Amino acid sequence: MSAPVSIDILKQHLIDPEICIRCNTCEETCPIDAITHDANNYVVKADVCNGCMACVPPCPTGAIDNWRTVRREDAYAIDAQFTWDVLPEERALPVSEAGSDTVPVVAGETDKAIPVPGPATDTVRGSIVPPWSAAKPYVNLYTHKAPTRATVVGNYRLTDATTDSAIHHIVLDFGATPFPVLEGQSIGILPPGATADGRVHHARQYSIASPRDGERPGYNNVSLTVKRVLQDHAGNPTAGVCSNYLCDLKKGDVVSVIGPFGGTFLMPNHPNSHLLMICTGTGSAPMRAMTEYRRRRRLKGATGKLMLFFGARTKEELPYFGPLTNLPKDFIDTNLAFSRTPKQPKRYVQDAMRERAPDVAQLLKDDNTHIYVCGLKGMEDGVLQALKEIAEAQGMPWDPLWERLRMEGRLHLETY
Ligand code: A2P
Repeated sequence: MSAPVSIDILKQHLIDPEICIRCNTCEETCPIDAITHDANNYVVKADVCNGCMACVPPCPTGAIDNWRTVRREDAYAIDAQFTWDVLPEERALPVSEAGSDTVPVVAGETDKAIPVPGPATDTVRGSIVPPWSAAKPYVNLYTHKAPTRATVVGNYRLTDATTDSAIHHIVLDFGATPFPVLEGQSIGILPPGATADGRVHHARQYSIASPRDGERPGYNNVSLTVKRVLQDHAGNPTAGVCSNYLCDLKKGDVVSVIGPFGGTFLMPNHPNSHLLMICTGTGSAPMRAMTEYRRRRRLKGATGKLMLFFGARTKEELPYFGPLTNLPKDFIDTNLAFSRTPKQPKRYVQDAMRERAPDVAQLLKDDNTHIYVCGLKGMEDGVLQALKEIAEAQGMPWDPLWERLRMEGRLHLETY
């Protein structure tokens, strides 16, 4: 009998283009740059991916968790993956020509691996698990292939008409269609029309700004906080496809919706849990949802504290400025930071946190505190640095505290 022939089998990591909402979380999370994208798809480089699973828990849709068993030499190239609209079927392996003594060598064996939160790294800095008392979310009830529809029942500009920054509060009603959501989750909107090369637009993801029981309590509706995009990241004039579509919607218009998405950026539900919320601009959406949920439950025994740091260029550009400043001081400790108020020094959320260091430290000492950061990517470093300084000034070494916050689902970062 001849010696066993070994064939190199790969459990190839793939991203489902039908479910993926192109939020970039996986590409940002991958510690070895195995994930990339073009205008069409997010894809995984078979020759780089080592199946470490770092990208899997943070993915809000689960599109990332797809695997196909292939001969390594037949692995799907990224150029092929870029063209896909659906994942290929699992192929039968052509092992017969290798004989019955074939011994598969499986690389990247990750099937059914249970992701364990590892040490904080440059890429995985927040929790990849929800708070222990979070409610169980529904995800992916509606997909690109099978979206649902919602009717616009409100569209209001939140920012002052004198500012260039147009942020809208948009309310969508699902009627009798089930669309259960939790604070901190997001939905995808499918804008009508097609890209320059004739493909339908992919969904754009928006955080939900209303609590689980509806923008209007007891109604099957959600609200979104949408900034009209008129420039690209480099400052060149460009009209954001979906944000302009949404901001122009009228009452009665119908939109295609997918989701809900997100299973970790969720609020704790035990009544003595504290929320430390830090946001800029439209990053206020999940904070509004959580705050409003706590406000509605307030009389039912919630005793935890709410502390908010909210940054905007000016007071006129701060969404929800009026309602926010009207909330009772004994319900929420609100700290606003404006960076472009004429004749005032530039102030960021992290500056405001340092000014309130003793109170922030008090929260950091409490195991019931859950931290949420949402908004500009740039603020993430500054906020983590401020938390470190505040903790260490009170004799709490940051690295072990950071690790515990992450592992316990108490540090949630969503920046873009
Ligand atoms: P800036 O005036 O420097 O742009 P935006 O209006 O672009 O959504 O920004 C919201 C707020 O976040 C603005 O006040 C902006 O200030 C501020 N910001 C910008 N970069 C950072 C950062 N690195 N850390 C904290 N806040 C920031």
